[in-house]
Amino acid sequence: MAAVKIGIVGLGRLGKRHAENLKHKVSGAALVAACSVVKEELDWARENLGIEALYSNYDQMLEEADLDAVFLVTSSAVHAEQSIKALEKGLHVFTEKPMGVDVPECQKVERVVAEHPNQVFFVGFVRRFDPSYAYAKQLIDEGVIGEPFLVRSQTVDLDEYAEFQVKFVPTSGGIFLDCNVHDIDLARWYLGSEVKSVYAKGGSYVHQAFDSVHDADNTVVLTTFDDGKMAVISASRTAFHGHDTHTEITGSKGILKIGMTPAKNRVEVFDGHGARTHCVRDFFERFHEGFLAEAQEFVNCIRENRQPIVSAFDGTKATEVGFAMTDSFQQGKEVQLHS
Ligand SMILES: NC(=O)c1ccc[n+]([C@@H]2O[C@H](COP(=O)([O-])OP(=O)(O)OC[C@H]3O[C@@H](n4cnc5c(N)ncnc54)[C@H](O)[C@@H]3O)[C@@H](O)[C@H]2O)c1
Repeated sequence: MAAVKIGIVGLGRLGKRHAENLKHKVSGAALVAACSVVKEELDWARENLGIEALYSNYDQMLEEADLDAVFLVTSSAVHAEQSIKALEKGLHVFTEKPMGVDVPECQKVERVVAEHPNQVFFVGFVRRFDPSYAYAKQLIDEGVIGEPFLVRSQTVDLDEYAEFQVKFVPTSGGIFLDCNVHDIDLARWYLGSEVKSVYAKGGSYVHQAFDSVHDADNTVVLTTFDDGKMAVISASRTAFHGHDTHTEITGSKGILKIGMTPAKNRVEVFDGHGARTHCVRDFFERFHEGFLAEAQEFVNCIRENRQPIVSAFDGTKATEVGFAMTDSFQQGKEVQLHS
């Protein structure tokens, strides 16, 4: 079977990593084109990946390049528009999360996806493809912890990235859409239920600059679900020890804990400072297996003519709940979800 011809769009912090995976590690993929609005990133793609078909304009890439699929790793604000354009060109689409930064544009993506049922549409909720998170889902489905009713999940980044995150807010949608969409997606996936209400609190405890963009550096959200299940979802941009994403699921017969200590590996250091493990530093170090697995699954879905486990509906739901959390935080009160 011919390799799937892919054009990557966005070669920033994460795009470069995806591009390297698609070029060197994903079987059945041929990375044939790249697009970025930053000239140095296109130079990087030519020099490091040997890609010749380089574009600074997305529409031009869609018009001219010989593609089966696009892989969108652009700023969150353009994911929806770029997904729609590619679907309407007859291409398969992988889009990084969030699928869109407002609900109506997500719903539009959903409609266009439904109009193109033979094209694969994939939202990059990478944690579903991390071996530990996927194993936890398997255990839940096997009934190992009985009926799950409470998820506690957090996304925590190193303080050293905070300055970058402040600049990122206008295009990322803020801490709830940028960080917690992952936790929201996991809670819906593990609990098998939809969010009914959110009550978000938070503040700029370390970096007041987040106040000026109506965002926060530390947050916590009490989330209730239609059937009375619960989630406590939190985020921080001020950790000093490492990237500390972890999740706990409580059920009627047991508890699953995923990655509670963000250990770099299994080495423990016993010395004058005590007993310690070194930590993973960033999301890519923590989730590099998941990023590769999701890209491989995208290509497999195309080659096997099937849809992935994560749908456009999941993309809309995560954005809708992330938006409600942002509203709740900014208004200082509980927000009900209506749909
Ligand atoms: N799944 C995860 O855990 C995870 C982690 C980090 C980032 N992300 C997502 O990946 C996306 C990119 O994040 P990043 O940190 O790499 O950002 P970045 O700012 O480093 O890179 C953005 C890239 O998008 C390109 N771009 C922006 N607008 C464009 C346009 N109109 N046409 C063509 N190219 C355009 C820029 O040239 C740049 O290459 C974001 O949506 C972010 O939410 C996901």
